[in-house]
Amino acid sequence: MTTTEQPASLISTLPGHYYTDPQVFALEQAHVFEDMWFCAVRSSDLPTPGSFKKVQVGRESVLVVRSRDGGLRAFLNICRHRGAQICTEDSGAVKRAFQCPYHAWTYDLEGKLIAAPNLTKMPDIDRVEYGLVPVHLREWLGYAWVCLATEPPSFEDDVMGAIVERLGDLESIDRWELDSLTVGRRITYDVKANWKLIIENFMECYHCATIHPELTEVLPEFADGYAAQFFVGHGAEFGEEVQGFTVDGTEGFGKLPGVAEDQDRRYYAITVRPTVFVNLVPDHVIFHRMFPVAEDRTIVECDWLYSRDVVDSGKDVSRSVELFHRVNEQDFEACERTQPAMSSRAYANGGVLVPSEHHIGAFHEWLTQRLSG
Ligand code: FES
Ligand SMILES: [Fe+2]
Repeated sequence: MTTTEQPASLISTLPGHYYTDPQVFALEQAHVFEDMWFCAVRSSDLPTPGSFKKVQVGRESVLVVRSRDGGLRAFLNICRHRGAQICTEDSGAVKRAFQCPYHAWTYDLEGKLIAAPNLTKMPDIDRVEYGLVPVHLREWLGYAWVCLATEPPSFEDDVMGAIVERLGDLESIDRWELDSLTVGRRITYDVKANWKLIIENFMECYHCATIHPELTEVLPEFADGYAAQFFVGHGAEFGEEVQGFTVDGTEGFGKLPGVAEDQDRRYYAITVRPTVFVNLVPDHVIFHRMFPVAEDRTIVECDWLYSRDVVDSGKDVSRSVELFHRVNEQDFEACERTQPAMSSRAYANGGVLVPSEHHIGAFHEWLTQRLSG
């Protein structure tokens, strides 16, 4: 077989085994999900002191908790005695403490060891030292982001920086006041595909004309394959006849109060590596969090966020939810169709990226650098 030189308009993707090899996934758990800021929970999902949610971050089970002072804290979900998982339920609420189901060591909402059988006979035990292991936590955009690294990377550079890179500044997203919005709908997708296929798909719009008829109807410029992320600060404009970001282009809700005139009737999509996609439209936000669970399986939790007024007044959000729900289903179906091919000999050296996808090459470079680090 003769090897021909690759034409300049094409660049290579990652080889297929990056999407199928459990060892690559293990490296990603260590160097990506555990070492970066990982978007874990919507803060409002933990309404009162004692509310908790268990989240898998890389190889670790993490407990995010609303503590007594009203703030959020995160801990490794591991008992300091002999290592039993403290919480086995995905979410719930305790009154004032977590009790390990094995020998009943008990920790308060700040993680301190407060009781254990015969604890008074062990006066030399430091109750903070033997408390739950804390995990770094930052709240932003109404979500709790956790980081397992001993020295977390700069949140400003990594998380906020991704928004600035796309929108040009932070004010542009601040106008949506994401932390004050309410979850109008949440849909969880169990996608049988590697998380990178999902991120790559989200980053390009070459597929939009083929698989997203409703979306390209609302955003006609998406039909030519160039996603809006080509230009810093650019939001894709709604079609002339389109009244709102809904499945049939009919009217949505009023523009959120802070959204500027020049942001109205536009759609902005932002990828925050490694697992978050943010979509801004004038009257709501669609916020995706990925939870990679295996090399060929990713849970995606998608929140549709509206103003409190819209949700409290019981307005029907279904036409607005339906648009991106269809987009999600169309995208995830495409990813699931691609996943089995990753182990084919046809994809051993990977595939190719066309010019409107070339920026995905930067994602691949970023990833391979992290994995080698
Ligand atoms: S392992 Fe938790 S109390 Fe023993
Ligand atoms: Fe898509």
